[in-house]
Amino acid sequence: MAMRFRDRVVVVLGGNSGIGLAAARMFAAEGAKLALTGRNAATLAAAAEELGALGLVSDIGVVAHSVAAMAEIEERLGGIDVLFVNAGVGGFAPVPDVTEEFWDGIHNVNLRGAFFAIQHALPLMRDGGAIVITGSIGSVAAVPGNVAYAAAKAGLRAMARIVGKELLTRRIRVNMVSPGPTDTEIFKRDASPEDIAGMRAMFADVVPLGRMGTSDEVARAVLFLASPDASFINGVDLFVDGGCVEL
Ligand SMILES: NC(=O)c1ccc[n+]([C@@H]2O[C@H](COP(=O)([O-])OP(=O)(O)OC[C@H]3O[C@@H](n4cnc5c(N)ncnc54)[C@H](OP(=O)(O)O)[C@@H]3O)[C@@H](O)[C@H]2O)c1
Repeated sequence: MAMRFRDRVVVVLGGNSGIGLAAARMFAAEGAKLALTGRNAATLAAAAEELGALGLVSDIGVVAHSVAAMAEIEERLGGIDVLFVNAGVGGFAPVPDVTEEFWDGIHNVNLRGAFFAIQHALPLMRDGGAIVITGSIGSVAAVPGNVAYAAAKAGLRAMARIVGKELLTRRIRVNMVSPGPTDTEIFKRDASPEDIAGMRAMFADVVPLGRMGTSDEVARAVLFLASPDASFINGVDLFVDGGCVEL
């Protein structure tokens, strides 16, 4: 196996579930020294133990948590080579039902929290490193009920472009991976087995490849963009979506 991240310090924000955990496993398998964050102490501890990673309970929606997490990463691991900004929450509500609380809850994590986590990670990042941010096809697809989430992910896309431009002097590449429907916990929390089966069937209908994606399929794209294999790729938003956006 290629060891593209041997002895590299890789930080996965939101690394204890779904796409983030799948990527963390792949980074570890390729030799990375890992730090993982998340809110759920139990799943975070399990992931950290499995991967020999530094696990930090940290809510990305609370900027002080990101400041503290970065200070601990610096003390324990030193500088950061790869930052994977993956933490995110979902939520559907049609326009008339969107409350300020609902909107702010999604934006505080998916956009505001992600921005300030990056801001506080930057002093630790090594020149020539890579940032990968998890977007969503929601940023370009007009899915009814997805207005708050889609706006946050579109904002993340705009933010990524400007962060990438400002980081050119440091040769830090900033790219995004935007998944289509991917079979992770984000869909399953608070859903009955019937609801889950219904969602899988619905996505099989709408995704050109006829199924949901897996966390591993998205994670492989994350590792590619974070790795030297993508050394001349900067500023892209890679759709990993079975063709949803382009076909
Ligand atoms: N699954 C999809 O179809 C899909 C499609 C497009 C985009 N995405 C994006 O993919 C990313 C990963 O989602 P997933 O599908 O893998 O779902 P997931 O299994 O629910 O994972 C979400 C991850 O984000 C973390 N997280 C959420 N809120 C956080 C907070 N406030 N502070 C710190 N960590 C937080 C979670 O940690 P805790 O469990 O500890 O909260 C978990 O590690 C998200 O950004 C999501 O928007 C997913």
